[in-house]
Amino acid sequence: MATCSAPGKIYLFGEHAVVYGEPAIACAIELRTRVSAKKSDTIAITSSIGTTGLDFEVHPYVSSAIEKLGSENVSINISSELPVGSGLGSSAAVTIATLAAINIEFGLGNDLSDLAGMGHEIEKEVQGAASPTDTFVSAFGGAVEIPSRKRLDLPDCGVVIGNTNKGASPKKTAKLVKQVARLKEEYPDMINPIIKTIGSFSRKGEVLISKKDYSSLGRLMNVNHGLLDALGVGTLELSALVYAARDAGAYGAKITGAGGGGCMVALTDSPFEVASAIEKSGGEAIITKFTSRGVMSE
Ligand code: PMV
Repeated sequence: MATCSAPGKIYLFGEHAVVYGEPAIACAIELRTRVSAKKSDTIAITSSIGTTGLDFEVHPYVSSAIEKLGSENVSINISSELPVGSGLGSSAAVTIATLAAINIEFGLGNDLSDLAGMGHEIEKEVQGAASPTDTFVSAFGGAVEIPSRKRLDLPDCGVVIGNTNKGASPKKTAKLVKQVARLKEEYPDMINPIIKTIGSFSRKGEVLISKKDYSSLGRLMNVNHGLLDALGVGTLELSALVYAARDAGAYGAKITGAGGGGCMVALTDSPFEVASAIEKSGGEAIITKFTSRGVMSE
């Protein structure tokens, strides 16, 4: 039996703007999805949802991963620390961990880049559209600038996630990306500069990360949050958690991922205070760490 785990991710800057070619910075976080693969005489996939065979409705990512690697008879077991469809890259993590575990169990010899590429193909097939960010970060770990795939230093400060437990859905990203596209078509003169400005946070962010200037980094995350709100992807619940985290002393806090519910992220060196403020404001707080560890065998 082979067991692999793959991390989720947050965006420090640049979601939505990255769809229009602007840079974004994503970082892997130490919340992982574990997948074990064992040779078997049928295909069985077991997760918290239940056990199925190859089933593209219930287990679309894992079924596609099995198919992509030649539909070997395999028994798959999944457990995850990542909330689903909430902007933390849960689908990429399960896809990459499944590909890696099958790759080892059957000695298929694919390297990390192959797995990241296949993972991106699978996300596109299942979701209709997907940026390579989530699968790339889940495979390689660390902090990465997208689309250049330049590896950045890993911020060595704490990170707290706040989950609104609202609006989670795998289809949410596509809907919100379309919503921003409509706004951009209708008001290009106003929306294009917002998108360009979000891109500039990533450029500046790269410099601030290398200087370990987390207080300036946080301030720009706050501005990025305001502009995501301006693009219409914020919610009352997300902003409540963002403001609570800032009031509790976070360097900065913002939506992570597509928005419309799901999760926010706070950068902080007082994780317990920030987590407690998030909980008091109705969110579910998860204290985690940035990680350089991508997919790995366990
Ligand atoms: O919510 P997530 O983690 O799927 O992130 C979406 C990020 C977007 O920039 C809105 C879309 C994308 O594919 O880059």
